[in-house]
Amino acid sequence: MKILVTGGAGFIGSHLVRRLVVQGGHEVVNLDALKYSGNPANVKDLEGKASYRFVHGDIADQPLVERLLREHRIEGVINAAAETHVDRSILDPGSFARTDVVGTGVLIEESRRAGVLRFLQVSTDEVYGSVETGSSTEDDQLAPRSPYSASKAGGDLLALSYWTTFRFPVVVTRGSNTYGPNQYPEKFIPLFVTNAIDDQPLPLYGDGRQRRDWLAVEDHCAAIEHVFLQGEPGHVYNVGGGNERENITVAEQMLAYLNKPRNLIRFVHDRPGHDRRYAVDCGKVRQLGWKPTVPFDVGLRATVEWYRTNESWWRKIKSGEFRAYYEEMYGKRLLDAGGK
Ligand code: DAU
Repeated sequence: MKILVTGGAGFIGSHLVRRLVVQGGHEVVNLDALKYSGNPANVKDLEGKASYRFVHGDIADQPLVERLLREHRIEGVINAAAETHVDRSILDPGSFARTDVVGTGVLIEESRRAGVLRFLQVSTDEVYGSVETGSSTEDDQLAPRSPYSASKAGGDLLALSYWTTFRFPVVVTRGSNTYGPNQYPEKFIPLFVTNAIDDQPLPLYGDGRQRRDWLAVEDHCAAIEHVFLQGEPGHVYNVGGGNERENITVAEQMLAYLNKPRNLIRFVHDRPGHDRRYAVDCGKVRQLGWKPTVPFDVGLRATVEWYRTNESWWRKIKSGEFRAYYEEMYGKRLLDAGGK
């Protein structure tokens, strides 16, 4: 199949593109705007392959998207392009609405006009909002609470409206917290691992008792591919790893793997509007034939090891634009918590 993957130089996108090209035998055009977290190094190994093409550009650029879809006779589109970090959505909400809502709108409209046969929207379990008990099913009402999750919910619902209105064959995945190699070090796991390697404090928000369901990136990408090929048009599929943990437990586990002291943890001011817990019911995607395969302890240890042995990848990032972001996000918090 000829597939356009957007955001394919990002974390999940790059693993997905590699899977589709190398394991799936598909032809892939990778459209990525290469904003702060898009990284050409993530897909360098694919350069030169006949079935792979990289295009630098934005999903909101209508003429470009229109041209690409027709020029490459694209049959399927997977939208993995997004602004994804909750903390940044608090600093700059506008960029989230632009990419996650408006960009998705441009991409899906052009895909429909070009007669694309299948469109998958990569969404998130955060659209359900904070779930204190039980787990969200696909029919639950959406209750996003951050500019990030509200923007993702906008893109998610916009995509689904194309099935209802136009019978355009859309499927949506709502994945849980994903971890693995190549994740930009603003996110919890790579931030804590790389800080710990450098004996820097780990800024744990609030009481550290928030809960997330951790999903290995290879399992997440397998689910996206499976739903893309097998999912029923107009349907949503929750995708979770089945590894619900408190943040503090994960932080302690990472420190133990690195043989670093627990006193690197600093309890800092909480994220505004911090969702306490996410949990998804994955019965529907399991019925479709997907299930997670990576036990959390194995995946987390391998991830810690990847950051330990790929320092040049993340040191380059952490020495750039990231420093100003880190200071803005954590400078005062860490001082208030008793020093950097
Ligand atoms: O649930 C899926 C979502 O998971 C994705 O849609 C998002 O793109 C992804 O960023 C992630 O959202 P979270 O807000 O849960 O991920 P994050 O890595 O930012 O934080 C995970 C937990 O760790 C959360 O409870 C906040 C906490 N945390 C995070 C950071 C960056 C800290 O305690 N300290 C930190 O410095």
